[in-house]
Amino acid sequence: MNKIIKKIILILLITAAVSVVSIYAYRIVSNQNIESKQSAESEIDALTFYHWWTSPGESAAINALIDVFIKKYPDTAVMPTPVTGGGGFSMLGIIKPLVNAGEAPDAFQMHAAYESKPYYDAGLLKQIDDIWESEDLESVIPKIVQDMNKFEGHYYSVPIDIHRSNLVWYNKLLLSQNNINPDNLTTWDLFFNACETLKASGVEYPIQMGESWTASHVFEQIVASMGIDFYEDWVNGKITSLDNPKLLEALRIFNKYLSYVNSDYSELSWNSATARVIEGESAFNIMGDWANGEFKAAKKIYGVDYGVFAVPGTENMYGLVIDTFQHPKGIKHPVNAQRWLKNAASKEGQDAFNPLKGSISARTDSDISKYDAYQQFATSDFLAVRYMFPSVVHGSGAPESFKLNLNDIIVQFLDNRDDEEFISSMTRYIQSISSEYTINWSLN
Ligand code: GAL
Repeated sequence: MNKIIKKIILILLITAAVSVVSIYAYRIVSNQNIESKQSAESEIDALTFYHWWTSPGESAAINALIDVFIKKYPDTAVMPTPVTGGGGFSMLGIIKPLVNAGEAPDAFQMHAAYESKPYYDAGLLKQIDDIWESEDLESVIPKIVQDMNKFEGHYYSVPIDIHRSNLVWYNKLLLSQNNINPDNLTTWDLFFNACETLKASGVEYPIQMGESWTASHVFEQIVASMGIDFYEDWVNGKITSLDNPKLLEALRIFNKYLSYVNSDYSELSWNSATARVIEGESAFNIMGDWANGEFKAAKKIYGVDYGVFAVPGTENMYGLVIDTFQHPKGIKHPVNAQRWLKNAASKEGQDAFNPLKGSISARTDSDISKYDAYQQFATSDFLAVRYMFPSVVHGSGAPESFKLNLNDIIVQFLDNRDDEEFISSMTRYIQSISSEYTINWSLN
């Protein structure tokens, strides 16, 4: 009996030893596979990048930029990863873990200033002063945009566009059918009177709004309409009292605005809301000028089919939304990443992308003949306005945690319309993250 037990124990010991060795061997082989795969990937002539430009206008624009790159580098396999969900909210949840885990693509769409700060603070972005110098970008990029792409005096991203946030897009036919002159809608009361006129003539929802972040976008413009000083305090984390009269007034206007909005907003993408104004179902849509890209994709003509005016009270302001690309650390195709950044910042790249995107070029030397009447007006207005303000909703104006919390507060408010909860949640949260306000904006 003992002999049999001994034999069994010996066999068990041998199998255990063999399996440990084989697991260990497998790990080595698989690591070698991963390393060889990674080294193989890095040897492949490829470029990977992430973005959230999935609407008709947005995808036309990014494809045009890729075409410019492929013309220069025909052998490079360009592999974009589009992430659905406008405004970058869903993308943030995907790209941040990748970059933080050292698995970043060669580039990704990122807003300037605060949105790029967590990556900078974690040492995950390569300094790219060399690109700004070799491409002489400081001679063509406006100073305010330069500063939004820098930390501690060095560059960590290149801007691909300059979008404007504080705009009301309108369907020209619907307004003329109701004898509404958009040039007169310079105050919120006059704007809401126009909404009343439209409702009286049978337009069920004079205004179209989409998913949560588009409501946050509206609220941000209402904050700006309270004056540049109030907006500056808001982005600098100084709006902390429950009875701030301008915050209370902004909320009153927001409530009134929502009373004219489509009831199905929560299921609507931003561009589906804009599409309803394009088609004439509704008259107004507050949205950044990426909406211009949707009108163009729908073959509509600015000044004939549609028009735009500044959000009431923000006529002399330019709400800045700046998309950028960067060079994450530890990527697989660093040479192609540098080429991509130069392509995005180039005159040829900008003049291929922005005319379709609806934005103006981030460069002051763009070929303005390639841009439509709206963009030519916006290019000159960028130089003429008295004030510029960084968008919170689109990543630049305030700490990322405030942007995300603002969206949560807005979603909650859309659901329960509890004014007191809205004010106390926002002011309390601003106080709780006071240390995160590291950029001191001076907007005057
Ligand atoms: C913004 C982005 C724009 C536009 C918009 C809608 O955050 O900066 O380029 O794409 O979202 O998705």
